[in-house]
Amino acid sequence: MFVKKFWLTGLGLATSALAQDDAKGTSGESPGDDLYAKDLSSCPGYVATKQWETRSGFYADLELAGEACNVFGIDLPQLKLEVEYETADRMHVKILDTNNTVYQIPDEVFPRPGQGQWCSPKDSKLKFDYQADPFTFTVSRSDTGEVLFDTTGNKLVFESQYVHLKTNLPQNPHLYGLGEHSDPFMLNTTNYTRPIWTRDAFGLPNGENLYGAHPVYFEHRKTGTHGVFLLNSNGMDVYIDDSNGQTLEYNIIGGVLDFYFMAGPGPREVSMQYAEIAKLPLMTPYWGLGFHQCKYGYRDVYQVAAVVGNYSEAGIPLETMWTDIDYMELRRVFTLDPERFPAELVNDLVDTLHERNQHYIVMVDPAVWSAGPNKARDEGLEADIFMKRANGSIYEGVVWPGPTYFPDWFDEATQEYWNQQFLDFFDGVTGPDIDALWIDMNEPANFLNRPYPGPAPPAEFAEENDNPPDPPPVRDGPDAPIPGFPQSLQGDLAPVDVKKRQAHGGHGHGRGRGRGHSPGRWSKPHWGQGGWGKGNNGRHGGWQNGKQSGSGCGTDECKGLPNREYILPPYMIQNGAGPTLAGSTADTDLVHANGLVEYDVHNLYGAMMSSASHNSMLARRPDVRPLVITRSTFAGAGKDVSHWLGDNLSEWAQYRFQISQLLQFASLYQFPVVGGDICGFGGNVTSTLCARWATLGSFSTFMRNHADIDSIYQEFYRWPVTASAARNGISIRYQLLDYMYTAIYQQNQTGTPCLNPMFFNYPQDENTFAIDYQFFYGDSMLISPVTEENSTSVSFYLPDDIFYDWGSGKPVRGEGAYVVAEVPFDEILVHYKGGSIVPQRVESAMTTYDLRNKGFNVVIAPGLDGSASGTLYLDDGESLAQEAISEIEFSYKDGEFSMTGSFDYDAGVSVETITLLGVEKAPSDEMEGAEYDSENQKLVLHTDVPLTGKFSTKLA
Ligand SMILES: *[C@@H]1O[C@H](CO)[C@@H](O)[C@H](O)[C@H]1NC(C)=O
Ligand SMILES: *[C@@H]1O[C@H](CO)[C@@H](O)[C@H](O)[C@H]1NC(C)=O
Ligand SMILES: *[C@@H]1O[C@H](CO)[C@@H](O)[C@H](O)[C@H]1NC(C)=O
Ligand SMILES: *[C@@H]1O[C@H](CO)[C@@H](O)[C@H](O)[C@H]1NC(C)=O
Repeated sequence: MFVKKFWLTGLGLATSALAQDDAKGTSGESPGDDLYAKDLSSCPGYVATKQWETRSGFYADLELAGEACNVFGIDLPQLKLEVEYETADRMHVKILDTNNTVYQIPDEVFPRPGQGQWCSPKDSKLKFDYQADPFTFTVSRSDTGEVLFDTTGNKLVFESQYVHLKTNLPQNPHLYGLGEHSDPFMLNTTNYTRPIWTRDAFGLPNGENLYGAHPVYFEHRKTGTHGVFLLNSNGMDVYIDDSNGQTLEYNIIGGVLDFYFMAGPGPREVSMQYAEIAKLPLMTPYWGLGFHQCKYGYRDVYQVAAVVGNYSEAGIPLETMWTDIDYMELRRVFTLDPERFPAELVNDLVDTLHERNQHYIVMVDPAVWSAGPNKARDEGLEADIFMKRANGSIYEGVVWPGPTYFPDWFDEATQEYWNQQFLDFFDGVTGPDIDALWIDMNEPANFLNRPYPGPAPPAEFAEENDNPPDPPPVRDGPDAPIPGFPQSLQGDLAPVDVKKRQAHGGHGHGRGRGRGHSPGRWSKPHWGQGGWGKGNNGRHGGWQNGKQSGSGCGTDECKGLPNREYILPPYMIQNGAGPTLAGSTADTDLVHANGLVEYDVHNLYGAMMSSASHNSMLARRPDVRPLVITRSTFAGAGKDVSHWLGDNLSEWAQYRFQISQLLQFASLYQFPVVGGDICGFGGNVTSTLCARWATLGSFSTFMRNHADIDSIYQEFYRWPVTASAARNGISIRYQLLDYMYTAIYQQNQTGTPCLNPMFFNYPQDENTFAIDYQFFYGDSMLISPVTEENSTSVSFYLPDDIFYDWGSGKPVRGEGAYVVAEVPFDEILVHYKGGSIVPQRVESAMTTYDLRNKGFNVVIAPGLDGSASGTLYLDDGESLAQEAISEIEFSYKDGEFSMTGSFDYDAGVSVETITLLGVEKAPSDEMEGAEYDSENQKLVLHTDVPLTGKFSTKLA
């Protein structure tokens, strides 16, 4: 859901923000052209003076090299440079003010990596060199001398409200990241701007700042891949251009230059190295990978129940039903609409879902209705946790329910307040006993924002803009009986024949199981250094800036320079939300409980709400993995939450760029579980677009169909072709569910991505570098969706390698060229990559609970060298601390298939089939239980191999 634009409502514009804005000569809607028109030619740069060596790097002093230019604020006369080789693969370079006044991200929000870690410069794979006058620096590879980052010829500008650093790049570089954005995965390098400033961005406009802030980029070369992360939460324009040599420049409105350089040398290594900095992403519950359905505008509990019933009737697996803000009383958080969603009926709905082994999720927004007494507001006032203006008064904005206050996540009492709201409301009596959580509007979005449309106070503004609108008329019951639901949800209709199609009589939750945990075999050294719960520790101590905390900031330090312009700063970033920083959000001059100004920490709001909500979900159900789906994110938030891509539109272009977005989050930013609204949120979808999207969406890790209140209904059962596409897509998804669960576990343990751009598998094949209409699901399944409207064919790229068709298993030899295939509207192209062993369930199921009772079909897809390997992770699917886990490794070599690893978790099912692909001739010896398919060159062995111990067999 989204903020409407209220810039010019004719009420008169009378704020200082706009007065400043007029002075800059902008139209009132656009942020102006500071980025393009800036003139830094009079800036003197800095000169390095003293230098101290340390065991793992050095410090230097920097001094302004001439008269201050004061272009966008005041030049800082003195700076310090800290270079530290933290690990052999990671270098930390920090340029900051000498007295630690300039704002830095607090350690609690972003625990710094590398505490206690250090590396001798001679062991580092990266090398830092600088010139003293003017100060410039390079980062290069130690072994080859290849320069990766190079500010030569470009003067550093470090002002109170503007920091500028520019690096020279090779021609036509392959750059990825700097999100959140909806642009091509490989970034444009001509006059291309990546503004970073979290924002409610309905329709996901290309080229603009969207909901999240991820100031990290990967640069891929045939000689290797490296990464550059700038740990900074201030607004910025990253600008990439080739008009004067190829360059990338940072234009940042505050904070310090806090860079982490990652050496790679491969793209997956950069992902792993970034995960060491941003923290490993959390593990997701197995059921969370099932299919989810939502719509804004489901009018009452009967309609929600009916959708669930309709999915069962249509034979389309539905794992989880969702409800948007419709369930709330007048859109107020932590309430139920007593007439449309009465507690008793909502709880009957949730109990029924649970009996059917399905799940329920609702939305919570941060903004709390403030115009009258209510529990969430009153307890928030009592705990004094709402965001305030500089004068100490509580800030009031307008969101869905009308006038609202916003929790201040920096206040020490906020977590307890938030926990208590969750415990009290989501208790299965007062409100629904939710299985997971959806958080939205946390940029934070706000309808009443600078420049204010006149002096209207929040209440009046809300009234004029229909916040909240009148709810829909109350109904006594559903339009038709709902099969599978109790009488209470049938209204006055006659009882229905309850066909419990999905019922299994038991609640699928394994709550309260043992807390024991044997660390994964794969965790060290094979899969890196993860391990349950180890990812989140903010460890302390060690060297950084000569201090004992990670950031180097003392208690009263790094709170930000005084006397700054917080609404419309001297350098205004290219904020798609309007002329000021406060467009579509809370005022950026608010002051948090710890003294930080919203101007500096705005980009952290959604990530902090994410962590707090993760903790509150844990407080409710301490033993199971919390699943929280958020809209706004910051670097590192993947340790606590998963992400959906916000308010997209039901358009083909949006269907296409969703792949770029999935790859950004899963493979670059460390959010393995990610998905965009399938069939599109805003606008009306067509049956064929929705069909294509159902199949593509089956390969997003988070799979949810969701539509806007004004959009037509788009549940998959609405059109035959879409229903068929959903059945096909979900069937493949569910057969591959354990394969993906294993990939997500590997990402949780090591940072290796569960979704992969093509070049991650083919880093030497230049044709793959820009491909973002195809991708690897896990590292073995190539997904090649149809991308054109009304088309039943697709032209897709196959690298020089061997592949095998999903379904038939027939080999397809790729030749490093595009191939055309016919694909009906309800199907999608999926190929096994040669060299893979893929553990599949023998068939799909209506719920993931049922799926877990299916046996396995282990599919061996030999590579060009005739061998293959794969992995399978098994656990109970949801406990935070696993009593037992299995980490199974499959390999196939010289005709022999083997299974090794650890087998402590008993999944209660066995390998029922082993399928060997690419078998050119029928086996000469009779093999018991074997079938040979000569047309598809496939050997299928029916067997019964327990998944509780080692096994090997000769297959060829
Ligand atoms: C630190 O330096 C900044 C700018 O150079 C100055 O405004 C500020 O007053 C200094 N703070 C302290 C505590 O000395
Ligand atoms: C990159 O942007 C430039 C300038 O806007 C445009 O002319 C060019 O077509 C874009 N390149 C690609 C590959 O999209
Ligand atoms: C670069 O892009 C901006 C924003 O789209 C535009 O205003 C400017 O004219 C472009 N500059 C050049 C040199 O094309
Ligand atoms: C979507 O369809 C509905 C119902 O036909 C219509 O009222 C609405 O205007 C349509 N929306 C768009 C964006 O076309």
